[in-house]
Amino acid sequence: VDQVVDYKNRIKRLLKEQDACLVAHYYCDPLLQELAEETGGCVSDSLEMARFGNEHPASTLVVAGVRFMGETAKILNPEKRVLMPTLEATCSLDIGCPIEEFSAFCDAHPDHKVVVYANTSTAVKARADWVVTSSCALEIVEHLVDQGEKIIWAPDKHLGGYIQNQTGAEMLMWDGSCIVHEEFKAKGLKDLLNVYPDAAILVHPESPASMVEMADCVGSTSQLIAAAKNMPNPDFIVATDRGIFYKMKQAAPDKNFIEAPTAGSGATCRSCAHCPWMAMNELDNLAEVLETGAQEVHVDSQLRERALVPLRRMLDFSA
Ligand code: 13P
Ligand code: SF4
Repeated sequence: VDQVVDYKNRIKRLLKEQDACLVAHYYCDPLLQELAEETGGCVSDSLEMARFGNEHPASTLVVAGVRFMGETAKILNPEKRVLMPTLEATCSLDIGCPIEEFSAFCDAHPDHKVVVYANTSTAVKARADWVVTSSCALEIVEHLVDQGEKIIWAPDKHLGGYIQNQTGAEMLMWDGSCIVHEEFKAKGLKDLLNVYPDAAILVHPESPASMVEMADCVGSTSQLIAAAKNMPNPDFIVATDRGIFYKMKQAAPDKNFIEAPTAGSGATCRSCAHCPWMAMNELDNLAEVLETGAQEVHVDSQLRERALVPLRRMLDFSA
């Protein structure tokens, strides 16, 4: 505990000295979420992380999350220094959508609007007409459907399938998935519902369709936290990364939150739904990058200019 307090004090001092602001995702270690809150930074979903970093006056942004979140911050704020506790923190959706193949796919269907999830590289964003996050994907695709557009969707096939279902959009789908959400199992969820018959089921749309079908609320991390606060149920079964429980408990302290079952969960594994890349953000590497300035995010300037267009479009649309 003393060591944690030492780290936290050191980081607080360094943030001040470096004119830096900590922006953390809900899936990060609760200690980092707490630090962001205590230092006037932000803890949020990927859309609000982008917006907050863009509007905050600090000259350095420290992004605790995964690589695409750091790159998004840099694309939007080229004049700021963007650091991450580690640049190694990637995302299976980003890995599964390499630019060469994706670009060829887009070239083969020039009559389609290209809509990419924020969980992609700068190069993939630079090839897109729109960037979306799970907070705004539905509204943006509805808007494109209203305009009679056909869509290329990448990379998450589960989120894409959900959006297609809801909007009736004509979509060509990339075959990507999140290794964390893909593990949730509807069979186990049915069994758990027998134990908690009054529970509301909250599901992030990166989960398989069989999970989404059983959900009382489907939404981005911030939308799931709002549901936990606003729905009257005493119990909630939550199908997303376990890092979110920190904020859910804060938002609704009297309610009971239960992890949705994954393939690996059971007697030996109580907490399987945790992104291995989000978990790379720790107190010690956070303190270290603030001290050394290592792990700085850089993006190619030409790609940055192109990626900025669909990113700004998203922020303006969802303002
Ligand atoms: P949100 O935009 O809902 O925070 O999701 C980001 C993410 O990576 C989910 O796995
Ligand atoms: Fe990517 Fe899934 Fe981790 Fe989110 S939880 S960063 S989608 S691998």
